Amino acid sequence: MNGHGELWIRTSCENNHVLVEIADNGPGIPPEIQSHIFEPFFTTKGVGEGTGLGLHISYRVVVGQHQGDIQVISQPGDTRFQVRLPITS
Ligand SMILES: Nc1ncnc2c1ncn2[C@@H]1O[C@H](COP(=O)(O)OP(=O)(O)OP(=O)(O)O)[C@@H](O)[C@H]1O
Ligand SMILES: [Mg+2]
Repeated sequence: MNGHGELWIRTSCENNHVLVEIADNGPGIPPEIQSHIFEPFFTTKGVGEGTGLGLHISYRVVVGQHQGDIQVISQPGDTRFQVRLPITS
């Protein structure tokens, strides 16, 4: 987001899952890189600015440890990460 814009966190309940949506109105994720953003060390930030691990670690925690799911929907001005976590009781 380069220090500008708005970021929202919305939560809701869907059947047996909690949906946590993290959305921003930044520049968006170009379609050609969307399939790579969860790979370890994939970053478009400059040297020393990003490790490229943020989304990889998020994916491992949500999917690997909690059997949830992360999806991304992105176009310029509207990027949403949708995290679904199973409700177990
Ligand atoms: N909300 C977003 N808007 C636009 N691009 C994004 C967004 N989130 C992730 N990206 C893209 O996905 C890439 C990988 O994200 P990830 O969080 O894994 O690493 P990073 O942000 O580059 O580095 P780090 O999280 O280690 O600081 C980013 O470099 C960027 O290109
Ligand atoms: Mg990051």
